[in-house]
Amino acid sequence: MKPDTPEQPNQGAEWWRDAIVYQVYIRSFADGNGDGNGDIEGIRSRLPYLADLGVDALWITPWYLSPQSDGGYDVTDYRQIDPLYGTVDDATRLIAEAHAYGIRIIPDIVPKHTSIDHESFRAALAAGPGAPERERYFFRPGRGSDGELPPNNWPSMFGGPAWTRVVEPDGSLGEWYLHVHAASQPDLNWATADVHDRFAEDLRFWFDRGVDGFRIDVARGVAKDPELPDLPADGSYPQPHPFNDQPAGHDIYRLWRAIADEYPGDRTYVAEMWSSAAEQAPYLRGDQLDTAFNFRFLFSSFDAASLRAVISDTLEALEAIGAPATWVTSNHDFMRATARYARPPQTWDGEPGWVGEGPVDSEQGARRARAAALLTLALPGSAYIYQGEELGLPEVEDIPEADLRDPTWEQSGRTRRGRDGSRVPIPWSGTTPPYGFSPDGLTTWLPQPAGWGLYTVEHEIEDTSSSLHMYRSALRIRRSLPALGVGTLQWLESPADVLAFRREPGFVCVVNLSGENVAAPDGMQLLLSSAEQPAGHIAPNTAAWFVDGRGE
Ligand code: GLC
Repeated sequence: MKPDTPEQPNQGAEWWRDAIVYQVYIRSFADGNGDGNGDIEGIRSRLPYLADLGVDALWITPWYLSPQSDGGYDVTDYRQIDPLYGTVDDATRLIAEAHAYGIRIIPDIVPKHTSIDHESFRAALAAGPGAPERERYFFRPGRGSDGELPPNNWPSMFGGPAWTRVVEPDGSLGEWYLHVHAASQPDLNWATADVHDRFAEDLRFWFDRGVDGFRIDVARGVAKDPELPDLPADGSYPQPHPFNDQPAGHDIYRLWRAIADEYPGDRTYVAEMWSSAAEQAPYLRGDQLDTAFNFRFLFSSFDAASLRAVISDTLEALEAIGAPATWVTSNHDFMRATARYARPPQTWDGEPGWVGEGPVDSEQGARRARAAALLTLALPGSAYIYQGEELGLPEVEDIPEADLRDPTWEQSGRTRRGRDGSRVPIPWSGTTPPYGFSPDGLTTWLPQPAGWGLYTVEHEIEDTSSSLHMYRSALRIRRSLPALGVGTLQWLESPADVLAFRREPGFVCVVNLSGENVAAPDGMQLLLSSAEQPAGHIAPNTAAWFVDGRGE
């Protein structure tokens, strides 16, 4: 145990089981130094807002030194803060101040790949083929008579092949390196002790500064099949998969668990995994990670049968191993919920930058996003709120091409616009850009649209019918009702396109996904709803919370 770490907020053990975690996309949250980019100072200045909102923890997207080719998910040095965002001292101060508000801090850690600017990748390039420095990454000769073809058929998540050929120190075209994401993000080879040791020290560096855990980027893709076999040509999902859920991944997280356990308090790991709860379960049995994002819930179309199925499957798979569910409706990789739910229900495989098909009904999207929020916050487990979600912020679908920053845009040959539309800086006040995000007159790093005066924090605080008011009320109620947070649910009988469940003691949530009003539950008192209700009824595309005498 290390006695000298800054004090952790004391909310009891396993706080992460029902925590409300607010995702800060740091570059777009709040600009503290007036350069058009969000930063640590900006987060510090908004701690009172976050405390008022009622969140338990902040997940902060990567703040490390980085050329920012993929929003900081391309890290040059894990123990330095990017000057864009501040310094390690600023981060340490933020952690302590957030703790004083009872808010925990969970930075992102990116173990699957580094930036091409990382010193170990530069050393690997400089050392040439066969050198031990190349062992920390995946360098392979190409296929074809002259090595002119990539070593295998893996595609990059952002488009094109997952391999880039390098120019060797002698000036010749040589080996290829693997990058399952952008070419600026070479994959690390976790079969080397050196990579393990470096990350162990990186984790300790931040635990020593008081962080409460980490969000693990691409957590199931860290370990690779050392043979790097081709993927099936027919596009089917192989079992085992060469770069997802490899057995060696579990060994990594067992070691990481042991590192977290060296520290006092309850430090947590939340995994970014796009798999089902059943596939996530082997990581969540207590000896490795605590929670994993439930993206199947985010991917689900907004109809009762799909939502009910994903909720039941999740709870069943996780209850069996004693792990909590982790509900997510939005993050920086996806179109905002308001825009997704504005589209007709359709199958979506979660491809970043997906825009869907069919007519767009923005009013319906906004209504459904609020209903989804009340549904999420009533379910057993913990929940994530992506910055701006509490404001009902729309997706910006018309960012000029010249302003797009997501590597997806270039790497897909300018066929996929990518994820910038959900990463636009937050509007805090005023009626014109930069809406209090930066000092007046400044242009923000991604342009903000006209018309966001209606979505500013300042405006929504005044407007009692706002999305922000609903979130604040929901979080306050959630804290005070014993039925909410950890626990179980029982589905209630309801019409086919209505979700209704009970949580004990004395709480009922009803989500009306039909086109008609439905009757409110008998003998219960309405506590909160996502839109105005006709007396005794629940309107279409609305969620409502009820209690009986025992619920309060
Ligand atoms: C995760 C991040 C995403 C990033 C990718 C590569 O999916 O959420 O933003 O592009 O990993 O690091």
